[in-house]
Amino acid sequence: MSIKTEIEKRKTFAIISHPDAGKTTLTEKFLLFGGAIQTAGAVKNNKIEKTAASDFMEIEKQRGISVATSVMTFNYKNKLVNLLDTPGHKDFAEDTYRTLTAVDSVILVIDCVKGVEAQTERLMEVCRMRDTPVIIFINKMDREGRDGFELLDELEEKLNIKVRPLSWPIGIGKTFKGVYNIFNSSVRLFDVNKTKVAKDVVEINNLDDSALDDLVGHNFANDLRENVELIEGVYEPFEKETYQRGELAPVFFGSALNNFGVQELLDTFVNIAPAPLPRNTNTREVIPTEEKFSGFVFKIHANIDPRHRDRIAFLRVCSGKFERNKFFKHVRLNKDVRFANPATFMAQDKSVVEEAFPGDVVGLYDTGNFKIGDTLTEGEEMMYKGIPSFSPEIFKEVINKDPMKSKQLDKGLQQLTEEGVAQLFTQTLGNKKIIGTVGELQFEVIQYRLKNEYAASAVFQSMGFYKACWMTTTNKAKMEEFVRIKQTEIAVDKDGNYVFLAPSAWMLRMAQENYPEIKFHFTSEFKVGMGK
Ligand code: G4P
Repeated sequence: MSIKTEIEKRKTFAIISHPDAGKTTLTEKFLLFGGAIQTAGAVKNNKIEKTAASDFMEIEKQRGISVATSVMTFNYKNKLVNLLDTPGHKDFAEDTYRTLTAVDSVILVIDCVKGVEAQTERLMEVCRMRDTPVIIFINKMDREGRDGFELLDELEEKLNIKVRPLSWPIGIGKTFKGVYNIFNSSVRLFDVNKTKVAKDVVEINNLDDSALDDLVGHNFANDLRENVELIEGVYEPFEKETYQRGELAPVFFGSALNNFGVQELLDTFVNIAPAPLPRNTNTREVIPTEEKFSGFVFKIHANIDPRHRDRIAFLRVCSGKFERNKFFKHVRLNKDVRFANPATFMAQDKSVVEEAFPGDVVGLYDTGNFKIGDTLTEGEEMMYKGIPSFSPEIFKEVINKDPMKSKQLDKGLQQLTEEGVAQLFTQTLGNKKIIGTVGELQFEVIQYRLKNEYAASAVFQSMGFYKACWMTTTNKAKMEEFVRIKQTEIAVDKDGNYVFLAPSAWMLRMAQENYPEIKFHFTSEFKVGMGK
């Protein structure tokens, strides 16, 4: 098979949601449809339990298991689907953001009772940064949720994207009867079926058919007719191109748990989702069909169990063909490297891959050569763009408890930062080291790993910063002035960029007002010149 055919077959995506909206359940149903698993429950067992939130060792253990599902590959309707797993635990949100740089599209799951939640907004912001195409699945329609039109309005308003329903629910909660597929004008009624793929579906190809009244009752049939008419009147016709540009999100309704509407979603997904897309590097755009291989590392998983001290770097193939045992150039280190056991992971099975194509993800065993964002090529000097850092939520100063071990501490902090466990900022005044994370859990992880892997001992002291802001300016003198005046709130990130550690939302607003020449950003990369 030619590289072009391989690429056209592939759909690489992630399912994202606010915790509890139904990501794991939907993932599992997709895998059932794709024949990758036989029974429900297989994915669920890999999920990081919410109850273990205070026990990071337990979470690490579960995270270890979840390496197995880092990439779930299955075939569906002649397409090869790569589903990249994202951690459900909110403290690992940064992992999710990075994984989003390695996909070509996403499916966003919304709970119909709760609507748009905090994490939904964040995740969508990340998708909007690179115009990632989004399909929305409104889940849990078997519950007494909110009105469909109200939910659509909320999605448009809060997520800053145009939406277009492609299916519509018949009834809701106790009276939920199924979904009408607007995309191909058919009605499917489902049996409640939690474990198997629903088979007994009734198709009606014309909404005016009186058979619809017989099946769902006159009132529901009429409601549906009215709603669909309203949708056709209010929303513009669905266009694949607008979706693929990330400007329009098609919306489906269903219930992942009961397998309502999941097949419609998956069928449409494989039909409209983009195949691997071109990606930007610091020198040029790379097209997937290029003959020469290139790819980048978007995630590093370190096993903190001292008996299995392995690290796995996850590489997304962007162009050409990745091959086992072939030498590739590690651009940052200017070194040739090859991999004897590149792996794919699926349902507890690790298998060695001989070759991989654009859109695929391979796991590379690593002894410390990789950091997030590293690029491999066949010799070309270029680095993939688009692995931004996001402003942490919690900031703490690192206090060294063992002055004899400060070298070890520095090394440990540097390596953990490179793995993406947390971000490290160094205050310009006084050289204080500040760790920034999205969750408290990371501090436990860091402390434990510093002790066990680097023999360094550190404690953390809270610092009341609100956000880390990366800065750009057109006026260098003003920037220098700002950095001088704000000394105590200025730090540098791992790449040596200045960061303003804003003490509060109000102080940030003041800075923005007083220094209009400076732009403050909540990520280390900005829309201007971004990847894709
Ligand atoms: P997440 O990965 O987004 O965090 O969500 P997950 O799939 O784990 O789903 C969260 C909860 O919502 C689970 O219940 C799950 O069974 C339930 N759920 C998912 N889809 C639907 C749906 O369509 N309808 C209804 N009514 N519930 C749904 P749980 O009680 O937390 O877990 P479990 O004990 O059922 O496994």
